[in-house]
Amino acid sequence: MRFTLDELDPQIGYKLMTATVTPRPIAWVTSLSAAGVVNAAPYSFFNVMGHKPPTVAIGVMADDKRGFKDTSRNIVAGGEFVVNLVPERLAGRMNITSMDAPSDVSELDCAGLTPLASARVAPPHIAEAPVSFECVSHTVLVTGPHQALVVGRVVEIRVADEFVLDANRGHIDTPALGLIARMHGRGWYARSQDTFQIDRPTYAEWQAAQTKLGEKV
Ligand SMILES: Cc1cc2nc3c(=O)[nH]c(=O)nc-3n(C[C@H](O)[C@H](O)[C@H](O)COP(=O)(O)O)c2cc1C
Repeated sequence: MRFTLDELDPQIGYKLMTATVTPRPIAWVTSLSAAGVVNAAPYSFFNVMGHKPPTVAIGVMADDKRGFKDTSRNIVAGGEFVVNLVPERLAGRMNITSMDAPSDVSELDCAGLTPLASARVAPPHIAEAPVSFECVSHTVLVTGPHQALVVGRVVEIRVADEFVLDANRGHIDTPALGLIARMHGRGWYARSQDTFQIDRPTYAEWQAAQTKLGEKV
């Protein structure tokens, strides 16, 4: 079956993409309004885009009623934000912060979460989150009347001490973080425990393996 997206209701395209690009990591973004209200909201159109410089990207859709969401407005106005990562134990509270709260209400308060001062940017971390990336806005690309792509440069990373295995080598206890990811449909999530490992081959190794196979035949 083929789907030609410009002939379809955009909502079908949304469903096709979000049902197939899974699991998606969740950026739990904290930003600061001009009036000083700490905004928090989850975004699963998110990933790291490179490390030289350390770059993240977040896709923010416009809301039918509210227009561009507080997160994108705050980032455009203030140029800074924090990406907090979401462990399973905080899934319910993360979900609360996705509600359409008015701009003058802090979702952190609604969800019983604690703001923790950042080192390099004005918006605070979520203290309960195990990992937080302090980011400076690099570009906010308006990709259409209903969406913007926020590209941020990560300037500081906080990892809770208990998850740092070897600070000098940048080794983190990833399984212990217990992070969740967004799946298909509304309200479905994945845990990150069901993993497997494959060694990455070089071309020379692949060639050697082919030669060995040939010798056996
Ligand atoms: C797990 C999860 C992931 C979400 N991902 C996105 C996303 O990638 N882009 C988006 O525009 N909205 C996303 N949303 C919806 C926003 O969180 C929601 O619209 C929120 O009210 C925006 O808040 P703000 O106006 O404070 O920025 C997501 C919601 C949840 C629960």
